[in-house]
Amino acid sequence: MKFRIAKLPGDGIGPEIVEQAVKVMKAVGEKYGHQFDFEFGLAGATAIVQVGDPYPETTHKLCMDSDAVLFGAIGDPKFDNNPSAKVRPEQGLLEMRKKLQLYANIRPVKTYPTLIDNSPLRRDLIEGADFIVIRELTGGIYYGELRGRTENGMKAFDTNVYSKEEIIRVTKLAFDYAAKRRKKLTAIDKANVLATSRLWRETIQEMEDDYPEIDVEHMLVDNAAMQIIQWPTKFDVLITENMFGDILSDEASVITGSMGLLPSASIGVHTSVFEPIHGSYPQAAGKDLANPLATILSAAMLLDSLNLIDEAEKVREAVDASMDKGFVTADIASGKPRSTSAVGDWLAEWIIKDK
Ligand code: IPM
Ligand code: MG
Repeated sequence: MKFRIAKLPGDGIGPEIVEQAVKVMKAVGEKYGHQFDFEFGLAGATAIVQVGDPYPETTHKLCMDSDAVLFGAIGDPKFDNNPSAKVRPEQGLLEMRKKLQLYANIRPVKTYPTLIDNSPLRRDLIEGADFIVIRELTGGIYYGELRGRTENGMKAFDTNVYSKEEIIRVTKLAFDYAAKRRKKLTAIDKANVLATSRLWRETIQEMEDDYPEIDVEHMLVDNAAMQIIQWPTKFDVLITENMFGDILSDEASVITGSMGLLPSASIGVHTSVFEPIHGSYPQAAGKDLANPLATILSAAMLLDSLNLIDEAEKVREAVDASMDKGFVTADIASGKPRSTSAVGDWLAEWIIKDK
């Protein structure tokens, strides 16, 4: 089959890690007889510098016309340290989410046996942890239109807005994930304080009857923040609003001790975007040392979304093999560290050879 993939490397280490995922996907294409046509799009700080817009219209059109989007990372300290910068790379990300209606962000969190001692948590707490955080991504306080400062500048406000439709759309997806897994859904909110959270809880409670096989648990976000760290193995699928999901998914990402390995998918109405959860790591840009595995595992999620299930599994097997062999970058190497591109080459070759 033939697929058109938008390639948005973005900033920092983005280009070099995305290149490894491209290599791996090309190897998959060669082995399984698919053609992936990659087309480049500008995004992030790089796009601001070149065309003055972190998510240019041409990039948006490319994404709309593609079967999937492979994304690197965006962000540049040049902009972080300048509070008066008019356009910021992050605005491009928020605009992309809104315009492509990327309503659900999926972050699987899974411990890898060989990396367990990298975790800041005790081995016995995290061994076997395997859950998915599903975060609503196009609503809530990130997008409430009523925001700003009072005239004298002494007060500021943001508004958290959710419609039932928005809650139902993302929660359906969460139920579907839970149905394919251990059939447990934890819905996280702050229903003891927030009106939006009460709507979330009520809406999810109404949906529960349609999924009798799923065990649904409602949990307040502060309690959830604690339980994720204390008993990570008890979770299966988590569903929550935009802002809580932002915070909890970062918290969850440290459990495994291998940030450089965590992929994500943002499921859209038009097309979906696949990217590592880590940032643009500007200090390492161009040095060929960043870990490409999170991006490569994101490419595996991309293949899943195209219904190329065996192909996706093959990519995951290749990643497991590279870790078993210790053919990995410095951040997770116990032996000789390998470069970003060497890891990409190794995986591509493993995929093609392993008939
Ligand atoms: C993320 C990031 C973004 C967010 C920032 C960069 C706007 O933290 O993808 O989680 O808050 O959504
Ligand atoms: Mg975040």
